[in-house]
Amino acid sequence: MIVTIKSLDDFGRGITREDGKTVFVNGALPNEEVDIKITKSKKNFDEAETRSVIRKSNYRREEVCPYYGECGGCSLMHMTYDYQLDFKKNKVERILKKFANIDVNVDIEPSNELGYRNKITLHSDGSNIGLVKKNSNDIVVIDKCLIVDDLINNEIKSLDKTKDTIIRTNGKEIIKDVNNYLVMNINNLKFRIDINSFFQVNSFITSKVFDYINDNISYFNVGLDLYSGTGTLGILSSFKGNKVYSIEVNEYSVNNAKYNASINNVNNIVFINKKVEDAIKDINEKVDLIITDPPRSGMDKVTIDVIESMKPKEIIYMSCDPTTLARDLNILKDNYKISKIKCFDMFPNTYHCESVTVLERR
Ligand SMILES: C[S@@+](CC[C@H](N)C(=O)[O-])C[C@H]1O[C@@H](n2cnc3c(N)ncnc32)[C@H](O)[C@@H]1O
Repeated sequence: MIVTIKSLDDFGRGITREDGKTVFVNGALPNEEVDIKITKSKKNFDEAETRSVIRKSNYRREEVCPYYGECGGCSLMHMTYDYQLDFKKNKVERILKKFANIDVNVDIEPSNELGYRNKITLHSDGSNIGLVKKNSNDIVVIDKCLIVDDLINNEIKSLDKTKDTIIRTNGKEIIKDVNNYLVMNINNLKFRIDINSFFQVNSFITSKVFDYINDNISYFNVGLDLYSGTGTLGILSSFKGNKVYSIEVNEYSVNNAKYNASINNVNNIVFINKKVEDAIKDINEKVDLIITDPPRSGMDKVTIDVIESMKPKEIIYMSCDPTTLARDLNILKDNYKISKIKCFDMFPNTYHCESVTVLERR
């Protein structure tokens, strides 16, 4: 079936309408005429793949990855990089308007498009190891993944095919074993991590995020670093404060975070190994800065209520999902002004979008 694409959805899929039904088309760009194959038919919408492009957009390019479309990870690889950046900027602006009625102009920090990932997770089906095929449990066996660091790619062919494997690198060494550690250098700080702890996957962009957060925090007395992982943002901010509470649920991350404070000569952080929603209400000091970096699901209502009752002067909200960010900002915006928001392209070639919002108490 031949259709003309009208616009893009938040996943970067082309949108068109056929017989009164919306069709989401993978791999198609606005104004393109494409031949599509319907892959899923639901009551209110269809999903489709692009079979061939009849009229090409100027923003289309050849996908450099042989597994594009198969593994599904880099679903924006058919867009020029500038167009990807515009797509993400517009997406964040649109979502903030739609779910929080916030009008903002968002800047976006670009990244290297390829070789940027310091981590890969490979899955095994018992006899093959690789990436997981889109919408299935099938394994896509790969020689290399173009968005990961070459040190990681060099390992892929010699892996044990019978078990899932995570590989991480700091650009000099790799780890793939639960008993090993790696030290990541971001700006002038050091972070020991392991396979079980969270760490941002794009070290170049993380360094830009650190600069932005550091430039946007003022000196404070007591601060909170919520969802603190291996202690990154708490340690970064600790040089401008008297005391920081870091709260994180993963015990591997918290052990590394304590170690990381010591290797960076930081001794004003209290580490709490609990869920944020359980621990935050027990902090009885006057808090003037909160840095929060929740998982994709955003913050829960209990946490937001406690934050509001603490009345901090400033909140820095780092987010990897603009929809849950908008939901949370819609609550916070009555008492907080969005003083700045910036996107960081942590995940080029994918539809994911990282952002940092600076909120000031009205
Ligand atoms: C996006 S990461 C941020 C980590 C850290 N700020 C960084 O930049 O490396 C989110 C972290 O929240 C933790 N987490 C998820 N749910 C949590 C909860 N309810 N309470 C505390 N930590 C949680 C995860 O283990 C993960 O380390």
